[in-house]
Amino acid sequence: MRLAATCNYGLSSVLKNEIQKLGFPIVESTERFVRFEGDFRAIATANLRLRTANRVYVEVSSGNAGTFDELFETARKGEWRRVLPVGNPVSVRAVSEKSALDSLPTIQKTVKKAVVDGYAGRPGGILPENPELPEISILALIRDNRALILLDTSGDPLHKRWYRMKTGEAPIKETLAAGLVLLSNWRFSEPFRDPFCGSGTIAIEAAMIAKNVAPGILRSFAFERFPFADEISLEEERQACVKDERREKSHDIVASDSDADMVAMAIENARALGLSDSVVFEIAEFSIERLPKKGTLVTNPPYGERISDSESAKRAHEDLFSAFRALPELSGGIITGLENVEPMAEGLTMKNRKIPNGPIPCRYYFRTSHRG
Ligand SMILES: C[S@@+](CC[C@H](N)C(=O)[O-])C[C@H]1O[C@@H](n2cnc3c(N)ncnc32)[C@H](O)[C@@H]1O
Repeated sequence: MRLAATCNYGLSSVLKNEIQKLGFPIVESTERFVRFEGDFRAIATANLRLRTANRVYVEVSSGNAGTFDELFETARKGEWRRVLPVGNPVSVRAVSEKSALDSLPTIQKTVKKAVVDGYAGRPGGILPENPELPEISILALIRDNRALILLDTSGDPLHKRWYRMKTGEAPIKETLAAGLVLLSNWRFSEPFRDPFCGSGTIAIEAAMIAKNVAPGILRSFAFERFPFADEISLEEERQACVKDERREKSHDIVASDSDADMVAMAIENARALGLSDSVVFEIAEFSIERLPKKGTLVTNPPYGERISDSESAKRAHEDLFSAFRALPELSGGIITGLENVEPMAEGLTMKNRKIPNGPIPCRYYFRTSHRG
């Protein structure tokens, strides 16, 4: 069976790597999604274990979509009766790139009609939809006049891990936080720091990675309602995840923030995952003296856009880049939406990658080696 996982722009190389490590052959990798081969169990594995995926989909159909007739036929031929649960309302989302069909509402309507016809087995058929049941989501992804018709197996997007009970004003998504940590190539034997930790997302994701805690372990998934759910051994896969956790190892992870309320939230969030002992949380202003000479720092400082004023945001960035300059054996990086940061990074061999943080265009300045 063919599956696909979507991700934040800038993270598809990380997602591809994660999928390969799980042992699933890659079919195609683009900026926003990775297609791969897998069996029923792979649906559970991918949903439970992928840290940077936004959602995991089953590919129900694929084919030409140069005209609406072609799109209709491509969507209709999917085995809808086999994959759709009875009674759940079905919604269709559409994305179209470099293709003749560009009206998203018309694409959505065409695919929905094709799914209903395909389900009913005849033109003008009916799909029973009870508005009180949870919605099932289909994604029509059209590129270069070809369509992939994808069934969402995740439900709530996968950044919702169900551990973050509380957040501040500008939390980073869990999937993005995990991606930043994975890109930093943190060696678990060395210290890890987030000195602008807010509600603790980056440090908690780092602890989950080091302890091999599956990101989806606390939550449920849309595929549990699907007709083929019996063939997916979710419970077995959950147990395998728990067995694979590295409980005995301790790591040096410190997350700090100048705001005591944020630190209290971060502590509660770590507790929800049973990771209270894995991260030390501190109330502290950023200072270079508090950083280890060697280790990894990954952080999301204030940009001045949503939290503090731009002067103090600029100072926070200058201090951070100075720290990377003064500590050549410190690796990791800074995700920022602040403009004109480039000069602050001058002379540092840091890569910088476009990675939006929600609606904010951001860049991740990072280095993985211990050279400055
Ligand atoms: C963009 S938020 C971090 C959000 C965090 N990644 C999360 O997921 O919740 C920036 C944080 O920096 C903190 N902060 C601002 N100036 C600081 C300073 N000088 N030292 C330490 N923390 C500071 C703010 O209290 C805020 O929580």
